[in-house]
Amino acid sequence: MEEQAKKVMLSGIQPSGDLHLGNYLGAIKNWVDRTDEFDNYYFMADLHTITVRQNPADLRRRTLEQLAQYIACGLDPERNTLFIQSHVPAHAQLGWVLNCYTMFGELSRMTQFKDKSAKHKDNINGGLFTYPTLMAADILLYQPDFVPVGEDQKQHVELTRNIVQRFNGIYGEVFKMPEPYIPKAGARVMGLTAPESKMSKSIPEGCVFLMEKPEDIQRKFKRAITDSDTQNCVRYDPEHKPGVANLMNIYAAVTGKSYAQIEAEFEGQGYGAFKPAVGEAVIETLRPIREEAQRILKDKAYLEQVYRSGAEKASYVANKTLRKVYKKVGFVAP
Ligand code: TRP
Repeated sequence: MEEQAKKVMLSGIQPSGDLHLGNYLGAIKNWVDRTDEFDNYYFMADLHTITVRQNPADLRRRTLEQLAQYIACGLDPERNTLFIQSHVPAHAQLGWVLNCYTMFGELSRMTQFKDKSAKHKDNINGGLFTYPTLMAADILLYQPDFVPVGEDQKQHVELTRNIVQRFNGIYGEVFKMPEPYIPKAGARVMGLTAPESKMSKSIPEGCVFLMEKPEDIQRKFKRAITDSDTQNCVRYDPEHKPGVANLMNIYAAVTGKSYAQIEAEFEGQGYGAFKPAVGEAVIETLRPIREEAQRILKDKAYLEQVYRSGAEKASYVANKTLRKVYKKVGFVAP
């Protein structure tokens, strides 16, 4: 009975690159902390990745690695529905329907489409353009209350809300109106070499991957951009010292210390002491995650059981919504 009262939370990450510290501190760690509070659906958004050309073997490997890493980060598959998007055909099916309730003009305004089509000029495909309607389908199938996403995905959730309004306006209350959920705590982690943009796999020198070797992590932190403040002072000032603020943010997230405590800890010590300390704290946070992910990845039977039972649970909910939609638009029941 209690289960039913819980609000529903859903999110996904594309397995187009290896998971990194930004994914962990900005998203996954928050999901883990909210496990008991919500009824949770988290998936590997593999359908989305092929809007950009992928190497098939790498995509397959990264999808399973991502699942192993989700679990290693603390997402318990017994208490969270973890699944692979392509295992639940309802995503593609509802995606098609929603395409017909989304305007060309709306899709043209999506900033991610504009960015990605500028970046991949030789492959501006239809999927890249209609990606947000697939994302809307991902969301609406599960009737979630909240969708935790980063700033960059807020526009897609806004579009989803417009689609809900349009669809429900025609057919009645079919979809629940989802809210974007931008957690207060939990850091928006910026790149170590370019603290003005978020940590991203596309700048590997500024990006710390969950499975990375400790010595590589430490090297990246030692080379992190700080500033030319001659006093070398560890002080939280995101506007004037964005690199230092980012490192403090990371250190706070992994140690639980406040900015004031961090300032006191490194009083008079400068960046030379601070940067490797952040590196060390991150290494110790990631070590058990890496080891657990490696262990889980070797257990193919376990992983298979997790994604099969996840897809089964997800399909049950998703198909209920899809049937309702098919009926509303006028398709003959099979
Ligand atoms: N578009 C998201 C991203 O690139 C991933 C994603 C796909 C997603 N479907 C989703 C996130 C549904 C939240 C809900 O980061």
